[in-house]
Amino acid sequence: MTSDKIIPARERLIFAMDVPDPAAARALAERLGDSVTVYKLGLELFFTGEYFPLADWFMARGKKVFADIKLFDVPETVRRAVRQARERGFTFLTVHGNDGMLRAAAEEKGDRLKILGVTALTSLDRGDLDDLGFACNVEELVLSRARRALAVGCDGVVSSGLEAARLRQELGPRLMIVTPGIRPVENRPVDDQKRVVTVPDAFHNGADYIVVGRPIRDAADPREAAERIQQQIADALG
Ligand code: C5P
Repeated sequence: MTSDKIIPARERLIFAMDVPDPAAARALAERLGDSVTVYKLGLELFFTGEYFPLADWFMARGKKVFADIKLFDVPETVRRAVRQARERGFTFLTVHGNDGMLRAAAEEKGDRLKILGVTALTSLDRGDLDDLGFACNVEELVLSRARRALAVGCDGVVSSGLEAARLRQELGPRLMIVTPGIRPVENRPVDDQKRVVTVPDAFHNGADYIVVGRPIRDAADPREAAERIQQQIADALG
């Protein structure tokens, strides 16, 4: 089931700006020009101390910023953090998929900020799930967390493209699905991604957005790589 939300096609590509410092981020963004509209800024840049000026720099250029900070704390602390974050102009913010945290985030997010639940990190293995007391498999955990994220008022989830189909089928069109782990892109290796899908498959499985990092960042011509993905998105959504 292909995504039916009204999202400009070129905003469906989210570039993961995984670089060590703001100068590198700005230089790469200049190279990318209008081939990328949405930027995901994560924890590596957060600890440079210039995260917020950098986010403002993107927004001043008409770009959208996804704050991939993956909040995880008691609900009251998450609530207070989201209250601050919503004034910053971000488009997306990630919060771990526990019920209380998601509910607190949803209650504070305001009108513009979208909260995405982190359903299950792909790095979790059976031993981690056992430690956490989860008897179910990862797919069941993802589905259950996505269902609850929607129920408490969050906008969507981050999910591998393999689970996207089942999420879309069981939870319907309202859930926003953001899918990393996009491969192969050109001749790019799979890197450390375990649960990969192609660009067309991600959208055919129901993703609303894809997150792509290294296949663009490490390309000889990042702008051309991003444009090629934009073309694949346009073709997939026809
Ligand atoms: O395309 P690439 O593998 O470089 O993209 C990696 C980006 O996607 C990283 O920023 C990472 O945080 C994010 N991500 C992921 N797998 C998840 C969740 C997020 O790779 N399960």
